[in-house]
Amino acid sequence: MSRLLLVSNRLPVTVKADKDGVSVVRSAGGLATGLRGPHERSGGLWIGWPGDVSRLTQAQRASVEEQLSQQRCVPLYLSASEVSRFYEGYSNQVLWPLCHYLLERVPRQDRDWDVYRKVNERFAELVASHYQPGDTIWVHDYQLMLVPAMLRARLPQARIGFFHHIPFPSSEIFRTLPHRLDLVRGLLGADLIGFHTLSYVRHFASTLMQLCGIEKVGDRVEQDGREVRLGAFPMGIDAQAFENLVREPSVLEEVRVHREKSAGQRLLLGVDRLDYTKGIPRRLLAVQRLLEREPAWRGKLRFVQVAVPSRTTVADYATYRERVDELVGRINSLYGSVHNVPIHYLYRSLNEKQLSALYRAADVMFVTPIRDGMNLVAKEFCAARPDEDGVLVLSEFAGAADELGDAVMVNPYDVEGMADGLEAALEMSEEERRTRMRSLRTRVKDYDVHWWVRSFLDTLQSTPTAPPRVA
Ligand code: UDP
Ligand code: G6P
Repeated sequence: MSRLLLVSNRLPVTVKADKDGVSVVRSAGGLATGLRGPHERSGGLWIGWPGDVSRLTQAQRASVEEQLSQQRCVPLYLSASEVSRFYEGYSNQVLWPLCHYLLERVPRQDRDWDVYRKVNERFAELVASHYQPGDTIWVHDYQLMLVPAMLRARLPQARIGFFHHIPFPSSEIFRTLPHRLDLVRGLLGADLIGFHTLSYVRHFASTLMQLCGIEKVGDRVEQDGREVRLGAFPMGIDAQAFENLVREPSVLEEVRVHREKSAGQRLLLGVDRLDYTKGIPRRLLAVQRLLEREPAWRGKLRFVQVAVPSRTTVADYATYRERVDELVGRINSLYGSVHNVPIHYLYRSLNEKQLSALYRAADVMFVTPIRDGMNLVAKEFCAARPDEDGVLVLSEFAGAADELGDAVMVNPYDVEGMADGLEAALEMSEEERRTRMRSLRTRVKDYDVHWWVRSFLDTLQSTPTAPPRVA
């Protein structure tokens, strides 16, 4: 039987060890939350890293393996040095900032490349060992850019797709990478390479032209006598699941409590992993600017910012956390009173019910990344609004901006402009709010995660795989 083999660095569940023992919890981030549903339905395998297991006893590790296998997850364990050099190092200190146009964050010395390559090799080896003829392999994201070509070398006839979940930057940025050619050739091992938006496809195509002289004709390029297709497949969410959640009585009760707590106030919401690409400081400054220039809003805004701990062992993330903490404190001390503070900052992750209740209760959802591959939170907010109310304020630098034109669009580098956008959202008439939300919801529901998986996999199925080699 043909199966879908999903391959990503992060499995949909991560091992959590604390004083109460060991358990597996849902992983944060769009890739894991988005693909969870399709994996449950597919009956295939998901191969990836379950997080740090180094402190687990034999028995705990056996229990983790049992839980993973029940979810059809195949673990690839990373050693401490691989975590530090492949995950924190090359993936999250080189590729992540570079693809988000933050060149100044990339270390001057390219020390971790060898380990990145070796771990990609380990992934390819493990996937190949689980592969059965007829399976479709779908590799995900920037941590595994070399895996498609490594798999192609092992399984010349396999059907291999790759999806890049983060921005693919302009070729002017990408070609600053010393190992640019290896990365691009790694991707070209796939039959189909998917991106969220057409501009990422364009950037990749011009990178191919500049670095390898390979020209895109239609949606195809030729590599080693094979055709590789490139396409834009904007990832969606499980819109129906969010809509169902916000109809549950327990969630509606939580919505009521949120509304009660913000009586006489407007509820603004931000939900992000605590990542320097998410633009949290500038967003906070926009709230501060609004309070500064419009005294009438003082005491009338309750801004709930959920910041999910992420990549906490990477130094830039720790510095970013301090910056956010400091700003929250400063704004609250400037505009708070004994009874009330404008910013409610939660440094933790919430489950889907808690998140949905917040989405459903908010007057304004504030999504202002300085750059983001897609941003599923923006879509989840719309899906959680069957009441057709609430305003989405969205950064024009999120991939989601291409689809969600009825949001109030802002430039996250322009704090004054963001304060204007926020004010426009707060003052928008009910009629305009409803018209915009209806159109946003239609988009989010019509192009959901099932559409995304189907359109990517159908395109992959219709792409001829490698021709048999003639001896
Ligand atoms: N999320 C979550 N718990 C939280 C906050 C967020 O599970 O407390 C989820 C959220 O529902 C969304 C994902 O994390 O599906 C974030 O995806 P997005 O594309 O917005 O950003 P990413 O984290 O992938 O950069
Ligand atoms: C983004 C990336 C994913 C990653 C997620 C969480 O969504 O595109 O590949 O899994 O962030 O980050 P983490 O480093 O915890 O896996």
